[in-house]
Amino acid sequence: MTDFLGLAVAIAREAGDMLLAKRPARPEAVDTKSSRTDVVTALDRASEELIRDRVRAARPGDAILGEEGGHTGGTETEQGRVRWIVDPIDGTVNFMYGLPDWAVSIAVEVDGEVVAGVVNVVPRGELFAAARGAGAELFRDGLPPLRLRCNTGVPLSQALIATGFGYQAGRRAVQAEVLAHVLPKVRDIRRGGSCAADLCSVAAGRVDGYYERGPEEWDFSAGGLIATEAGALVGGLRGGPPAASMTVCAAPGLFEDLRGLLAPLDPERDA
Ligand code: IPD
Ligand code: CA
Ligand code: CA
Ligand code: CA
Repeated sequence: MTDFLGLAVAIAREAGDMLLAKRPARPEAVDTKSSRTDVVTALDRASEELIRDRVRAARPGDAILGEEGGHTGGTETEQGRVRWIVDPIDGTVNFMYGLPDWAVSIAVEVDGEVVAGVVNVVPRGELFAAARGAGAELFRDGLPPLRLRCNTGVPLSQALIATGFGYQAGRRAVQAEVLAHVLPKVRDIRRGGSCAADLCSVAAGRVDGYYERGPEEWDFSAGGLIATEAGALVGGLRGGPPAASMTVCAAPGLFEDLRGLLAPLDPERDA
């Protein structure tokens, strides 16, 4: 039986070490995707290649979904249908500017359910990890592992809320409209620049909640499990699993209030 979390942690550490060693003083965008600000660097691709190589070597039958390389592989294995969901650098803009919130994010899904997740926030020396049903922990060099619990009992008006603004073209006006609606109703807003790290911040009680329109599976799968295992709820706006249309995360109570605040804004619209 493969220790999925152990393997994911080892690979996320190796990718993180490679990125720290190879990061130039000012990484440059080598390509753009959906918009001028939706960028990719050579090291996003190198990190994904490394992760794909290591997964294929250890588990040749597994499917891999990566932000840069899309979907590949996948056969039935002795442990079911296994899919690795990979963001080789979550927070590419922070990575380019030398800001400390960027992460390697790896989730492992078995038969449609995420069972393990690791978010290696490399510049901070913080590795967040969770296995389904076994809780979430923060690992730092020289310190004992820290069991994570999200904040509970925080009213919306006192809540510190993280958010993100996806880089897809044509979304800025609606993002600003949603923000203008939310900001007066909460304590304050944080835009850290890495969805995976934001979800880990909910897990660690560093913020009370998170919402974003636009995150994809590779952004929220690992961090979503870590937040869930720390006691938070993670879901879409109208029930169901987290979704690109809107992903919300907070402790029970605040989760419903945050969803209620966002629901009338119809974030399905683009502008
Ligand atoms: C982005 C980051 C950002 C979020 C965007 C994501 P990337 O991922 O997670 O915080 O607001 O929606 O696309 O492109 O840096 O991997
Ligand atoms: Ca990206
Ligand atoms: Ca991402
Ligand atoms: Ca990325």
